[in-house]
This record gives sequence, structure tokens and C-alpha cells, in this order.
Amino acid sequence: MRFDSDAVRPPISRAPLSGAAYSAVEYDPDDDTVVMLDQRLLPTRIEYLRYTKPDEVAEAIRTMVVRGAPAIGIAAAYGMAQLAAQESGDAAMFLVANGVAGRVLSEARPTAVNLAWAVARMARCAAGAAKLSPAERRATMLAEAEAIHREDVAACRAMGALGALEVPDGATILTHCNAGALATGGYGTALGVIRAAREAGKRVRVLADETRPYLQGARLTAWELAADGIDVEVITDSMAAHFFQRGAIQFVVVGSDRIAANGDVANKIGTYGVAVLAHAHGVPFTVAAPWSTVDLRTPTGAEIPIEERSRDEVARIGNTVLVPDGVGCRHPAFDVTPARLVDAVYTERGVFRPARGETPSALARR
Ligand code: MRU
Repeated sequence: MRFDSDAVRPPISRAPLSGAAYSAVEYDPDDDTVVMLDQRLLPTRIEYLRYTKPDEVAEAIRTMVVRGAPAIGIAAAYGMAQLAAQESGDAAMFLVANGVAGRVLSEARPTAVNLAWAVARMARCAAGAAKLSPAERRATMLAEAEAIHREDVAACRAMGALGALEVPDGATILTHCNAGALATGGYGTALGVIRAAREAGKRVRVLADETRPYLQGARLTAWELAADGIDVEVITDSMAAHFFQRGAIQFVVVGSDRIAANGDVANKIGTYGVAVLAHAHGVPFTVAAPWSTVDLRTPTGAEIPIEERSRDEVARIGNTVLVPDGVGCRHPAFDVTPARLVDAVYTERGVFRPARGETPSALARR
């Protein structure tokens, strides 16, 4: 499957910052809109939506138009840049409006710390820019949001190169959820490791967990990798144990939504089970994440807030009802993999190995 690059290109007049043929999120400076690829429609429809207000951007984050920890942080940053373009009041009014928008955006989803991180960085920028003219404020805030976007793509490439060194040539790699270009500024974290391994000349094949209930693996990871010509097959989540038992998986790489100070890793629901399986079968379980995912203020995974999403996302697929009316469903959207099961975390600052007792703090000063 190769897609038509004209069909997937974001409809903005300048070159997208993603560096990919498509983008999860971009900013159109011509009309100060935030432009997002509607990931709810993939893989069957490619449609970009335009958002004109930070409240709308928050709603797009809540409803999964855009998802993936770094991508929702970038979307929020652009939402705050957009506010600066619209708010022509004095410094005090600007800061109040900025504070309100920041709160709405950072509350849109609770687990991925990249969202709160990006909002806090934009708030610091706003504090410095408040006394400037409205035109200068807009330019300063947009430059900061674009820096967040560009730095994320660079971070993905840096961690990808580090992770690729550890991918065995000829490996079949299991990944869970979607930690690709669609989940980041571009290139991807876990899929960045896979892309970098391939770019380094390694032969790799991918097994993508479908990732119930939202099917990010089946819909998004498979779409991205197939478009890049990377050999990918989708399995249901319950098949992973079978493939581990048969020795068919040599390496696991996933992304993360928050990494606690002790090296515990929150990621898409089902990741913990994959880590337990990898450990039981002696297969390296690795994580790729930008430094913005590391939360040194959260001591362990037990303190990471786990988002509970709606019953409907479990009880239905599209219009098909899977669960009898009146029967409840549980839907924690993330789980926590304890540090002792995490063989390596690749970041743009370097690698740490939680299973060997290494924590992120060793890299914090870089
Ligand atoms: O609910 P989602 O789709 O936002 O969850 C995404 C994940 O869990 C990803 O694995 C994580 O954000 C890392 S993305 C680089």
C-alpha cells in the first residue's frame, strides 16, 4: 500500500513541520487555524479538520481527532498560539485569557503528561510576551509552538537512532497502540525506532497489536508502516502470547504517555500485559519517548492518573453493538508497566535501563 501523497498532505500553504507526507497536526499561519488529520476516520478516509478556537482544539483532543502524547501537546501549544493571535487586550487581559485556555486544554486528557508540559511551556512564553504588542505576542507564541513541534520531530529522530542500534537484524518487532508519526510531531517514537532500524539497513518485520478498544494498532500503525513499505501484520491483542511462545518475536518497542521518576511507564491499556509476556519469554521490552514524557514530579506509576473513557468505546465498534444493553463496561485507557520489566527507555537525551535500576534522573541534567 502506497498512498497518494497529494491526498494525505495537510491543506496549508507552507511546508508541513512534520517532515512526513501527512501530519497529525499543523498550524496554518494564513488564517490562524489549527489543522488536524481526523484520526477517527483512518484508515478508510483522509480528512483534515480546521479549528479556530482553543476550546475547539481541546474538544478535538478529548474526542481523539488527534491523539498520542506528543501530538496532543503540540495541538495544545498551537491552540495557545491561536489564542495569542485573537486576544488584542492589554497584558493583564491576555494573561487571563491565556490561563483559561491553558486550563481547558490541559484538562482535555489526564494521563499524557506531554499535554500539561506543552501548556506550561506556552504559559511561560505568554508571561514573557504579555507586554508586547498583539502582533509581537502572536509571533512569539507561534514561534514557541513551532519550536515544540520541531523539537519533537528532532527528538523522535534522535531516540529512533539510539533504539535502532539495539534492534537485531532480521527481527520481528511487536508494537502496541500507535506511537508513530500520527502520535507525534512526525516520524514517531516507537515507530521511529523501527523506521531508523530500517533506514540503517536492518531487515525488520512488525507485528502490530490491534489495540482494543480503540484499534490504534490496526487502524493507524498498520496504515503508517504499510505506507512506508515496512512489512507489517496485525494481530489481535490476545494472539501475542502465542507468538512469543513460538519464538516469533525478538524485540518489543512501544511509546509512553508518562514515565515516573522511578522508571515506571504508563502507556496504552494492554502494554503491561505485553511487558509481562516479553519478560516471561526473555524478549527485550523497550520504550521510546521524548523527554517531555518524563515526569520527575510523579514518584511512581501508582501516582499516574489513569484516564477512564466511555463505555461506548468498548461496547460498540462504529454502529455495531458488541455488548448487551444495560451491561456495564470498564475502560481504563492506559496501564502502568513497572520499571523492573522495562529493559530500555530511549530518549533524545540518551538511554536509561529501568530493569537495571536506572532512573531518568541520571539524564535530567543533560
Ligand atoms: O489514547 P491514545 O491513542 O492517545 O494513546 C496513545 C498511546 O498510548 C501511545 O502509545 C503514546 O501516547 C505514545 S505516542 C508517541
